Amino acid sequence: MSDAQIKNNNATLNIEGKKIDLPYIKGTEGEIGLDVSKLRGQSGVITLDVGFKNTGSTTSAITFLDGEQGILRHRGYAIEDLTEKCSFLEVAYLLIYGELPSKETFEKFDTQIRNHTLVHEDIQKIFNAYPTGSHPMGQITTLVSSLSSFYPQSLNPNRSEDEINLTIIRLLAKMITLASMIYKKSIGHPIIYPDNNLDYVSNFLNMTFKKVSEPYQMDPIVVDTLNKLLILHADHEQNCSTSTVRMVGSSQANLYASISAGVVALWGPLHGGANQKVIEMLEAIKDDGGNVHKYINKAKDKNDPFRLMGFGHRVYKNYDPRAKIIKKNCDQILENLGINDPVLDIAKNLEETALNDQYFIDRKLFPNIDFYSGIIYRAIGFPLDMFTVLFALGRLPGWIAQWKEMQSQNQPISRPRQIYTGEKARDFVDISAR
Ligand code: CMC
Repeated sequence: MSDAQIKNNNATLNIEGKKIDLPYIKGTEGEIGLDVSKLRGQSGVITLDVGFKNTGSTTSAITFLDGEQGILRHRGYAIEDLTEKCSFLEVAYLLIYGELPSKETFEKFDTQIRNHTLVHEDIQKIFNAYPTGSHPMGQITTLVSSLSSFYPQSLNPNRSEDEINLTIIRLLAKMITLASMIYKKSIGHPIIYPDNNLDYVSNFLNMTFKKVSEPYQMDPIVVDTLNKLLILHADHEQNCSTSTVRMVGSSQANLYASISAGVVALWGPLHGGANQKVIEMLEAIKDDGGNVHKYINKAKDKNDPFRLMGFGHRVYKNYDPRAKIIKKNCDQILENLGINDPVLDIAKNLEETALNDQYFIDRKLFPNIDFYSGIIYRAIGFPLDMFTVLFALGRLPGWIAQWKEMQSQNQPISRPRQIYTGEKARDFVDISAR
């Protein structure tokens, strides 16, 4: 039982001699948030926080993150325990419905997902329109959004709980099918249909890597590794893509459209797209002779736009706990799969050099989840441009959970304000006189 949201305290703000009382709210873990929603009405003043560096957009009971301590918990459970002891779908259930499922509940949830993995055959026609070489993230965005056309009843977000649950099941189930179809199409291979005897992750691997004419040897290490990676990506409170899902959803756009917007937000290299960029960077360093100092200096040079990809985080000012778990697994996985990736040595060298460099120490810049994830994805056999799709696959339950929570909170439409810095009112000049 949570003891959060005690909303009876007041802080006093002094603006140009005028005192304004603002209520503040305390979270379960003692975090304090000033409630400024009525400030403008009281004083004509707005708060300005470009990039939302210090602005809470919502209260939420899904994920707790302490960036100073390097703590991440979902619904109160430590990420370390969830990664070790759960399947990805159990964590998805936990995030979306608030509790870990009982055995019976899980079986029902799992069966429902297995029953909905097939996508409408007409989806295949959409692929014909993509030019060869289209980035998988662009494809998955439109495919997720297009699901709303196949289920028009989903367009109304104020549906019964059963109908919303069906959309949630469809999204989780079809996402693995769509992601594997994108990969198969990209290499010109026929698609492999879902095999619903397989668990979620195995089904995805089978659809992705099985060749029509040969049986696919499922490697339990790969299944376990992918399970772990998806869990590590499953939710991360109000990040860029999740805030986008909530923002789009706040206009009462349907769930497919809201998730599709989240996928697009994830694509950028400063967010989920970093996993692809990390490998590109490590490869570039390797091809350039492996001199990590040169690239550390580039990252520190304010006149050089280069940044160390996979380093730094808006909220973690300590080692990203997800990166800690991945790093521990990375060596072992590569060894178990019999892979010797020279890029791993570059990554370790780069990490060690950066962690001992005053620039990175002063700014509390540590490796984030994307620093090592790409090395593992590559070892499993995924091409670079599929990495961010895998992030999206992992983040999907988090997006759904946050959308569902937002709906239950009756959140008003998201509509930030601004401080106008343009021209003052001026007289119109006719085109002949300009
Ligand atoms: N390389 C070099 N300098 C950096 C880096 C980096 N990767 N990240 C931050 N800095 C410096 C930045 O230049 C600034 O220095 P100064 O104070 O001298 O101006 C200081 O550190 C603070 O950085 P910021 O840009 O104000 O921090 P932010 O919170 O706005 O940005 C970030 C966070 C993740 C966008 C940024 O650290 C970054 O661009 N990292 C590389 C991209 C990356 O790995 N993204 C994946 C994030 S984890 C996956 C996810 O959850 O999205």
